[in-house]
Amino acid sequence: MPLKKIIAPKKVGKPVKLEEKEKEEEPEELKKKVEVPVVVPQPKGRKTPELLRGFRDVLADEQVYWEWLRRAAEDIAESYSFERIEFPILEKEELFVRTVGKQTDIVEKEIYSFEDKGGDKVALRPEMTASAARAYINHGMLNMSQPVKMFYFGPTFRYDRPQAGRYRQFNQVGFESIGSSEAVIDAQIIVMVYNFLKSMGLETTVRMNSIGTPETRRTYKVELASYYRTKRNQICDDCKRRLVKNPMRLLDCKMEQCQAVRANAPQILDWLDEESKNHFMRVLEFLDEAGTPYALDPYLVRGLDYYNRTVFEVWVTGDEGERSQNALGGGGRYDGLIELLGGREGTPACGVALGVERIILAMKELKIQPPAKKIDVFFAQLGDSARRVGLRVFEDFRQSGISVREAFGKGSLKAQLEIANKLNVPYTLILGQKEVLDGTIIVRDMESGAQEIVDAGKIVQIMRKKLEVVKTLDIPA
Ligand code: HAM
Repeated sequence: MPLKKIIAPKKVGKPVKLEEKEKEEEPEELKKKVEVPVVVPQPKGRKTPELLRGFRDVLADEQVYWEWLRRAAEDIAESYSFERIEFPILEKEELFVRTVGKQTDIVEKEIYSFEDKGGDKVALRPEMTASAARAYINHGMLNMSQPVKMFYFGPTFRYDRPQAGRYRQFNQVGFESIGSSEAVIDAQIIVMVYNFLKSMGLETTVRMNSIGTPETRRTYKVELASYYRTKRNQICDDCKRRLVKNPMRLLDCKMEQCQAVRANAPQILDWLDEESKNHFMRVLEFLDEAGTPYALDPYLVRGLDYYNRTVFEVWVTGDEGERSQNALGGGGRYDGLIELLGGREGTPACGVALGVERIILAMKELKIQPPAKKIDVFFAQLGDSARRVGLRVFEDFRQSGISVREAFGKGSLKAQLEIANKLNVPYTLILGQKEVLDGTIIVRDMESGAQEIVDAGKIVQIMRKKLEVVKTLDIPA
């Protein structure tokens, strides 16, 4: 057999780049909704476990958003005197069943619950208000100065249908104020959240409603159910179920036919008791005074059972109808929750929680960039002896408080200067073999490209002086 034939390559077709392959297989609509993990071909028998659906890694390039958000949340919490608290991720399932409500989507369909090895029914927390109320009682916070103001940040879990902005593990940043029934507390929480999001470049609108007392709700539910029963043949199958199990959720349905029925449904505001009405009016007055934009939404009832009086959701302005599942946050008053969990009768409370991933997604969609960190100096080295000396020089800079970056893993000066350019540093220090022997370092002005050779022993002082000049020039006139 001719040699050529033996070694002739097998016909394998044109290699397809990964991204191209995904493009071919992914319907356009789906691509927009879910993040598609890059699948790298694996040798047989060594398949890498995939991420669970609705779970995600937060990679380095997204961390700048997280860091910004975390810092902004901490700043706002400090200004409004909310103190950080951390709850366990796993709690008794009963905590959520009793508070969030047995007939809610969260408890009925979405809770991650299981029996632990000791036979206890436990759940990954689907939210943190219930934990805040439990902690308030457990730690006798009743005896502290009221209201007790808590701030939390952490992962929560719901077995939801994953899509953009909806995950099975997501993070909430939340604020709870327990122990005051004053309307100003509701308003202040809303103003605070509005300002928090504004500080991250997001213009939001708060949708507001009042659902009165549990008694109001009971009478209203009867009224609502009897209205919907007359329209039973016009609503979707889900709503037929809601009509029996949880009529308030009928108002949440996004189906066109159901929205048409909703348009003539009785509104809870007409059923409010005098005190709830006054409370709501006062909250709105405070918001007017603070200049916080809001819109009344008579159909907003929220998907958790513990609320009374004020309820609200925060939306990116203009998004309300469009991405109907994607409120950035929501909250309200829950004056009965502490008592429900065995705490002191009539302990009032109000709070809010925001979805961290949703905020970041909105920032990305609106092309809002976190402020870039200012780096003062980049340190470039050439050759092994320069690396050796460089490790020490780098450390001297780091300890002096001058922000410095390096790329010791890179060999070429070109590659290192590219990184320095990306970091937008005013100066790059260059240390080569010759400079090590001479005891010098080259200082390159990145804007003009001018270079000067300076004494390596005095490099930190020299750079400090230069940077002071840069900083004075930076101050806007
Ligand atoms: P929630 O409306 O169920 O309220 O959730 C608050 C926020 O968490 C939502 O507005 C959304 O941004 C985010 N979120 C909810 N589910 C998901 C999901 N599957 N994927 C991504 N983000 C999600 C509560 O949890 C109440 N505990 C709020 C509260 C605090 N009420 C009083 N105090």
